[in-house]
Amino acid sequence: MSAVPKLPATLPEAPTRGPLQLAAMLWRMRGDPLMSLVDEVRDEPVGQARLPGFPMHTIHRPAHVEQVLLTNHENYVKGPDYDLFGTALGQGLLTSRGELWRRQRQLVQPLFAKRHVAAFAPAMTGATERLLGEWDALPGERPRVDVAHAMGGLALDVVGRALFGAELTREVSDTVATSMSAILAELGGAGRSSLFWAAQTLPGVTVERALRLRPRRQRRFRGDVAALDAVVEELVARRRAPAGGAAATLAGEPDLLALLLGARDEATGQPMDARQVRDEVVTFLLAGYETTASALTWMWWLLAQAPAARERLHAEVDAVLGGRPAGFDDAERLPWTSAVVKEALRLYPPVWVLLRRAVEDDAIGGYRIPAGTTVFSILYLTHRDPETWPDPERFDPERFLPGRDAERPRCAFLPFSIGRRSCVGRAFALTETTVLAATIAQRYALDADPARPPVPDGTLTLRTRGGLPMTLRRRG
Ligand code: HEM
Repeated sequence: MSAVPKLPATLPEAPTRGPLQLAAMLWRMRGDPLMSLVDEVRDEPVGQARLPGFPMHTIHRPAHVEQVLLTNHENYVKGPDYDLFGTALGQGLLTSRGELWRRQRQLVQPLFAKRHVAAFAPAMTGATERLLGEWDALPGERPRVDVAHAMGGLALDVVGRALFGAELTREVSDTVATSMSAILAELGGAGRSSLFWAAQTLPGVTVERALRLRPRRQRRFRGDVAALDAVVEELVARRRAPAGGAAATLAGEPDLLALLLGARDEATGQPMDARQVRDEVVTFLLAGYETTASALTWMWWLLAQAPAARERLHAEVDAVLGGRPAGFDDAERLPWTSAVVKEALRLYPPVWVLLRRAVEDDAIGGYRIPAGTTVFSILYLTHRDPETWPDPERFDPERFLPGRDAERPRCAFLPFSIGRRSCVGRAFALTETTVLAATIAQRYALDADPARPPVPDGTLTLRTRGGLPMTLRRRG
């Protein structure tokens, strides 16, 4: 255990809610988990709700989040709260725990090294060119598109190409897209269902059993997971077969699947078994798709509200790229574009809350955190902490221009989390969002529909509810 001062014998309890307040809170959370939780706890640094069978504490101050994710991280582990994801992801990196996670993280981390991320840049530009081609073909001066849908398709195309390289045909990627969005919709639906959560407070009721309370949906969900599995199995089998050639590559570089299949355990020299490869592939698809899509969607909307920031973006991409698509090396030459992406990640972090189970009693902000409680680190509020971020609600990419990081506490900006269980795809995602944003901004300006402001929907990731219609304007 890390060096944490011995706890005083008695510690005050964090403010809690009576049964009526609790019922009202749960009712509100049904419709909109993010905003109802945020409004509920914004003014209390540490809060708690004693749900039967599911005690929870909420925190958001940067110093408190640092304690959970860094200074006393051994006391805060991923618990059964992640089992819902596990029903689709199995034991991939996002959901696994203990020794299995440690071994897999060691195997997977090198696959996201800078040199590999550089090799994935053609996947990023290739997918963007495909989307821009589709937009170019739309009729009318100012075509309207659902930007959330378009960014979802784009992000999935990128991660699919990075994973499977040359083998990802349009047909295969369409199957992946259809089953993946159905899986996410079902996980989101279960996450919002009070019946699903209430059932799990009963002894012996696992996530799997609670999901069966929604039998029709559950059958469809199983069907979608099976469809995705069939595609993944087929792609992996083809790659393993000698005739398929383990060398199917992306621009001469190994893709993520080739790297996964080639990874060997340092101690045993063993490759991953087939089930583990499947779980990691599906994890990459899920972890790398909605997050990136949501970041880009919010970014286009924020830019449409801030004409000066958007003009500066257009000026930067025109000057640096001069009409060609952005590549890996350009990310560093585009400081404003990169600052725009980060400011969007600050205001609308796709992963807006992190859940950790306390192993032993601890104290946060002077309050008792009992063993067994689930600590919700609400990053949405951390990123709007008024003591760290002047005028926190304002979209201001200047905050992220080079050299400004030093002014902030270490855990004030955590879109990729921090510490051992931080995002393994961080470098990939930062390069990807910058390359995609720059390449699109060269060709299009996106205008918002004032009658349809986005409604945040924070069930799994922080999406826009019901999509986000915007108008495309072709640039000179
Ligand atoms: C803007 C895009 C992204 C954001 C904001 C993001 C954010 C995060 C966050 C906050 C976590 C920690 C989750 C937790 O503790 O519950 C995480 C974990 C993870 N992310 Fe990302 N992510 C992004 C893109 C990607 C991409 C592109 C990939 C892979 C292709 C990826 C793969 C993963 C994996 C495998 C984990 C689990 C790591 C572990 O527990 O060891 N992510 N991500």
